[in-house]
Parts: sequence; structure tokens; C-alpha cells
Amino acid sequence: MDTAAKLSPASVALHWLVGLGMIALTAVGLYMSNAEVWVLYPIHKSVGVLMFVLILARVVWRVKNGWPAQLAGGSPLEHRMAKLVHWLLITATLLMPISGMMNSGAGGHGIAVFGLQIVPSQHSADKPNEALPYNESVAEFGEAMHEWIGYLLILALLLHVAGALKHHLVYKDGVLRRMLGQRIAAK
Ligand code: HEM
Ligand code: HEM
Repeated sequence: MDTAAKLSPASVALHWLVGLGMIALTAVGLYMSNAEVWVLYPIHKSVGVLMFVLILARVVWRVKNGWPAQLAGGSPLEHRMAKLVHWLLITATLLMPISGMMNSGAGGHGIAVFGLQIVPSQHSADKPNEALPYNESVAEFGEAMHEWIGYLLILALLLHVAGALKHHLVYKDGVLRRMLGQRIAAK
């Protein structure tokens, strides 16, 4: 279990696996869709679906364990901001893969994990190169969510990293060292 002085190895491992995975998927997602690099789509989707499994494990762990205790550094407003940003980030970790699967699955593009088919793609006889949606409104809603929550995620992440650096460099209170698995003197 997490304590104020030390976070459990599960909390630390899940934070960095999911966190770095989300950053990588965001970068690849933006690049592949803007530059139309079709070869990256199945890789983005496969890694995204696998990440969803880790994300669910992380959310269950966080609900059972509670949030890490807040340390002394920072004003009450900064503490409230940190809480809000943590909620935004963890909610975005759930909504990004869900909306991606809505877009690809309901849009008829299909979902597979490195070749293992989960939702088949669908094409009409007269336009075999174009996907035929199973449910166009679900697919369009998923597409819009994936894009806008993606932008919100980038904003929340910038605030999150700035906060982590401020704790480390200005307040020198061990928030970052604790997330790196070290035992700290909790005040
Ligand atoms: C280089 C990037 C990152 C750094 C330096 C970083 C740093 C940290 C630190 C120091 C904490 C501890 C805060 C505390 O003790 O109150 C933390 C917690 C947290 N971080 Fe990050 N983080 C990064 C990326 C991410 C990403 C990409 C996500 C999610 C998309 C994320 C989600 C969270 C959440 C939800 C918490 C709350 C505690 C928990 O659930 O584990 N972080 N982060
Ligand atoms: C797990 C975390 C994920 C993150 C952080 C993520 C992030 C992103 C981002 C930032 C974009 C570019 C913005 C956009 O054009 O929508 C994108 C595009 C895309 N993502 Fe994801 N994604 C994730 C998971 C998934 C999953 C699980 C799927 C499908 C199974 C998926 C399918 C797609 C598709 C098809 C696009 C291109 C959309 C387009 O060209 O309009 N993503 N992703």
C-alpha cells in the first residue's frame, strides 16, 4: 500500500508505464493523422488497446488505494489544482482508448492487436477500399472525443509536469522523488 513517505512499487510502475505510454501514443497519434502515415495506424491501435488493460488495472488500484497523500509544498490553490489535474489525467487515460475504439470499431475500420482481430472491418461491395460504418453516429462521436480529449490531455500534462518540476526545484519537498520510488521524509 502507499504511505505518505513511500509509494508502493505498483503505484510507481503503473504511473510511469501508463504515463509514458500515453505520451508516446499522443505523439504518434498526432503525427500519423496529420501526416497521413497509414502504416502507423495498426500499431497505434494495437498499443492503445493493450494500454487500456494496464489503464483499467491502474484505475482499480487507485480506487482501492486512494490518492497519494499531498505534501507540504505549495499553496491551498496549488493543491486544489494538482487534484483537479490528476482527475483530468486519469479520466483521459480511460476516455482516450474508449473513444479510439468507438471510432475504429463502430466506423467499420476494425480493431486488431498486432494481427489478432477483435472487431472485424466492414466494406461495401461497390467501395471495397472504404470502411462501411456499423454505426456512423457512434463512430463520429468517438472521433470527436478522441481529438478534443487529446488536446485537453496535452494541456493537463503541461500543467502536471510544470507542477512536478516546481515541487522538485522550488519547494524541494520530495513529490517527484517519491514518484520515482524513493522513501522521503514526509511532513
Ligand atoms: C514526464 C511526465 C510526468 C511526470 C514528470 C510526472 C510526475 C508525477 C509526480 C511527481 C506525481 C506525484 C504527485 C503527488 O505525489 O501528488 C504524479 C502523479 C500522477 N500522475 Fe504523473 N507525471 C508524468 C506524466 C503523467 C502522465 C502522462 C499521466 C497520465 C496521462 C500522469 C498521471 C498522473 C496521475 C493520475 C497522478 C496521481 C497519482 C497516481 O494516480 O499515481 N502523469 N506524476
Ligand atoms: C490509449 C491511449 C490513446 C491515446 C493517448 C491516443 C491518442 C491519439 C491522438 C492524440 C490522436 C490524434 C488526434 C486525432 O486525430 O484524433 C489519435 C488518433 C487516432 N487514434 Fe488514438 N490514442 C489512444 C488509443 C487509441 C485506440 C485504442 C484506438 C483504436 C483502437 C485509437 C485510434 C486512433 C485513430 C484511428 C486515430 C486517427 C484519427 C483520425 O485520423 O481522424 N487510438 N490518437
